[in-house]
Amino acid sequence: MPSPAVPVFVTPDASEAGRRALRDALGQFATGVTIITTLDAAGKDIGLTVNSFASVSLDPPLILWSIAAGSQHVAAFAVGVRFAVHILGQDQAALARHFGRPGVDRFAAVEPELEIGRGLGGVPLLGGVMAIFECLLETVAPAGDHHILIARVERFAVPGGAPLTFFAGRFGGVGTT
Ligand SMILES: Cc1cc2nc3c(=O)[nH]c(=O)nc-3n(C[C@H](O)[C@H](O)[C@H](O)COP(=O)(O)O)c2cc1C
Repeated sequence: MPSPAVPVFVTPDASEAGRRALRDALGQFATGVTIITTLDAAGKDIGLTVNSFASVSLDPPLILWSIAAGSQHVAAFAVGVRFAVHILGQDQAALARHFGRPGVDRFAAVEPELEIGRGLGGVPLLGGVMAIFECLLETVAPAGDHHILIARVERFAVPGGAPLTFFAGRFGGVGTT
């Protein structure tokens, strides 16, 4: 049966069910998956899995992503900080899960198995990824329960490969039909 031209609309509300419904609806937008790394104020390696990454501008070269205002890492992402965006490959779902685990020191737990290089400003770089963008944070814009971070791309590298995807709460890959 064809779907109706005008579907049933839902108005967002702050109840638990309302929040889940909006999250599930937004999850219909298929994305790639990144891990974003930096050093915190104490010089410690930190990182988190992020799918809110997007390109913004080619000239000047700008990208954005958003971080939860309640994240343990929010203070580390201040204007002037350098960070690296790693676009993950299809075989890196376990790494994405690891860097998405709340409340753990992700580098301490993963370091023995993970090859880590150093980029601009000593930012930790992860191996085996599809692309890396080294960025300088220019704008932090609070927006609801997140902060939108806009950054200038200083350097990038593209080892290439097939992408890891995230859709409807699940990791996957791009079909080759
Ligand atoms: C696929 C995926 C995408 C995510 N995208 C974001 C994101 O865009 N922004 C964000 O702040 N957290 C995102 N997270 C959550 C973080 O990876 C991580 O769980 C969060 O930082 C945990 O809270 P903490 O920072 O307080 O430890 C994502 C998690 C997963 C698994």
